[in-house]
Amino acid sequence: MVGLEADERFEFVECDIRDAESVDSLFAAHDIEGVFHLAAESHVDRSIDSPMDFVTTNVQGTVTLLSAAERAWAGDEARRFHHVSTDEVFGTLGDTGAFSETTSYDPRSPYAASKAASDHFVRAWAETYGLNVVLTNCTNNYGPYQFPEKLIPVVIDRLRKRQPIPVYGDGCNVRDWLYVRDHCEAIISVFERGRTGETYCIGGETESSNLTLVEKLCDIFDRLNGNSSSSRQLIEFVADRPGHDFRYAMDITKIRRELGWSPSVDLETGLGSTVQWYMDNEPWINAVLSHEHDTFQQRWYNR
Ligand code: TYD
Repeated sequence: MVGLEADERFEFVECDIRDAESVDSLFAAHDIEGVFHLAAESHVDRSIDSPMDFVTTNVQGTVTLLSAAERAWAGDEARRFHHVSTDEVFGTLGDTGAFSETTSYDPRSPYAASKAASDHFVRAWAETYGLNVVLTNCTNNYGPYQFPEKLIPVVIDRLRKRQPIPVYGDGCNVRDWLYVRDHCEAIISVFERGRTGETYCIGGETESSNLTLVEKLCDIFDRLNGNSSSSRQLIEFVADRPGHDFRYAMDITKIRRELGWSPSVDLETGLGSTVQWYMDNEPWINAVLSHEHDTFQQRWYNR
């Protein structure tokens, strides 16, 4: 974990969630009261490139964790397993409407299919073994420490290197952006107060087309760096992603009504602090991008 501040309340253990023996030994070594399961392969382009990694990590890894929790907790219903998932399990939207907890599953990418499968396994563990579970499905996250494979950190990285910024297709695809701290607060609310077995949808209520978002990032970067010429000229339209979902949006009525949570960070503020964070943490970005075994990243960057 490059650069995460040390905090004595946490113990970081590097462990492969597919490795049942390691996961079991963690449960044996600690009196674990709850699991927040966020460990996943999460990048759609990587899932198109190597789908099997998504099956093993997201599906097999989730089943490994569920099995370990169920064995260790032996029916203790006070202990809770929280599965963090994605809006992408619901497929894609047209110009109007929003996903909600009652939307049918319709995954379209290998990534979305793997998360849909893991959601189903979590519900199966609740029904079959009586595990106390809650699930959340969220929109696109952004903020500090996001790996530069997702759109926002990719754009900021290109801006600082003054390299072309790749916008897929015509840039009209729409995403709803959720600031990471808002997401964490929503997760804590659901873990602490959500109803057992329930799913809660989480979103930032900040829909934006990709092109508008990228232009905003260019303008913020220019403002923070006192640039006189516009970084927008770095924008380059590139080949579209296969099966590119057009639009995601989330109806967050349920979490707002039941738990009183709603997003507190607007897009302009969140993007501003995110750009500033990446400008202040160049060594972190350089370190995470320097993994020589990450052949996808190398191919992607050199394409
Ligand atoms: P991404 O951050 O990969 O998240 P997701 O695929 O889960 O929505 O992509 C967000 C949007 O930005 C998506 O519509 C694809 C697009 N995109 C680009 O246009 N260029 C890029 O370099 C990347 C990584 C994504």
